[in-house]
Amino acid sequence: MEDLQETMERINAVIQRIRQKTNGQGIKLQSQKSQQMQTFKELSEVCPLCGGSGFIIKCNSKGQDTIKFCSCKDVDKSKMLWRVSGIETERNRLTFGNYKPYNITTEKIKGAAIDYFKNFNNIRASRRNSMAFLGQVGSGKTHLSVAIGLNLLAKGIPVVYMSYRDEILKLKQNILDEEYYENSLRKYKTAAVLIVDDLFKGKISEADINIIFEIINYRYMNNLPIIVSSEFTAERLLYFDEGVGSRIIEMCKDYTVEIAGKENNFRVKN
Ligand SMILES: Nc1ncnc2c1ncn2[C@@H]1O[C@H](COP(=O)(O)OP(=O)(O)OP(=O)(O)O)[C@@H](O)[C@H]1O
Ligand SMILES: [Mg+2]
Ligand SMILES: [Zn+2]
Repeated sequence: MEDLQETMERINAVIQRIRQKTNGQGIKLQSQKSQQMQTFKELSEVCPLCGGSGFIIKCNSKGQDTIKFCSCKDVDKSKMLWRVSGIETERNRLTFGNYKPYNITTEKIKGAAIDYFKNFNNIRASRRNSMAFLGQVGSGKTHLSVAIGLNLLAKGIPVVYMSYRDEILKLKQNILDEEYYENSLRKYKTAAVLIVDDLFKGKISEADINIIFEIINYRYMNNLPIIVSSEFTAERLLYFDEGVGSRIIEMCKDYTVEIAGKENNFRVKN
């Protein structure tokens, strides 16, 4: 085993390398931080907090250097997760701009999605901090959920995308692989924002409900926002599983859109 001396030397070498890479700019004052982060996200340039190294070095009161991961890395990680789920974040066509309302209903849902995004920072920590797109197939529920997610990501908020059907299946297939299972579940439970796409799609077993309950309940208890899309109506969600349904309905109370009518199915329009 490596002794303490060697470990310290290795850490110091890393600190030196990072210092050289960032021209000593690795340490920033807290007060400047949010402003710089904002500018960085807007311009999508190299992170000004860590100079792109992914680390921030701070000197504590005893004069020792400490390293922590920079918050820009959280965003990178969730972008990677999106890529793995088949959603390209950089050149994505599922944007607000590409969603073209063609009647009153589609105008309303787009408006609600944009309102939610604009209001996100104010409601983020509250009980009703979430949004639900419910009902009609092909009405753009996934499109608008992803559009919100992309905009939040661009503001530096780490959003995790979960395709309900695929992920539940993967989780169940790996239920014996404790490490994978726990890590996956933790990712969905603790993400800053979680998109649950197509909730309750397909055949649903008791085990599926238990998994989704664990995720939703954790987020409910900790006031962590969710953006849910589902073919279920609010009533059906409640009736189907009151535990999961009632929590989602409460969290999404201020931003629930329920879409009805085949005329709102973009896939078969014209
Ligand atoms: N108003 C719109 N303007 C432009 N494209 C749209 C609009 N509504 C839907 N689309 C496109 O139609 C397709 C279907 O939309 P989407 O997948 O978001 O529907 P959905 O409500 O999630 O359907 P499902 O219930 O089957 O999951 C997507 O390619 C989406 O980009
Ligand atoms: Mg969908
Ligand atoms: Zn950084």
